[in-house]
Amino acid sequence: MTTTRESALEALTGRVSPHSAEHCRAVAKAAEELARRYGVDPDQAWLAGLLHDWAHDESANELLAQAAQLGLEIAPIDHDVPYLLHARVARAELSSAMPDLSPAVLDAIERHTLGSPEMTDLDMCVYVADMIEPARRFDGVDALRESVFAVSLFHLYARAYAASLSHLLVAGKYIHPSSVQAWNAIVAEERR
Ligand SMILES: [Fe+2]
Ligand SMILES: [Fe+2]
Repeated sequence: MTTTRESALEALTGRVSPHSAEHCRAVAKAAEELARRYGVDPDQAWLAGLLHDWAHDESANELLAQAAQLGLEIAPIDHDVPYLLHARVARAELSSAMPDLSPAVLDAIERHTLGSPEMTDLDMCVYVADMIEPARRFDGVDALRESVFAVSLFHLYARAYAASLSHLLVAGKYIHPSSVQAWNAIVAEERR
């Protein structure tokens, strides 16, 4: 079966809470707009944006159980912050539920929480869209939104990632080792 916008929306609505579904629709729209602005495939961006939080509403125990069942590698930190598994679990679940999704879309879904040292333009559109969709409220979000037409996609992503890491530090939250790798890749790219 081919995954269309309609079929993806229907599947998502049956899978997550109305609140999460609303967020996902907003991220799809924001990702599509970013994609058009930055020369990325808007359909892939919309689809990845819509499906990025497919596993968001699973509990910590469900995520850990699902990750184990799906054969995902579980690091000690994943027991401290199981919530972060929702991106990898989503990828694994969706590759069975919607086998025609492209690897590029699945990568963008998997990379929406922790980023990656190998972010594609599509990945960056979805990452940023998740942070700037209209319902998001945090210090610096307006500056981020205003940057959309002013800076490159990479710099937009770098600023979004910095905001996310700053929040974790200020709030005294765990930082996943993969986040450190993703951040160091950003710094390396900026120094090139
Ligand atoms: Fe998420
Ligand atoms: Fe999200």
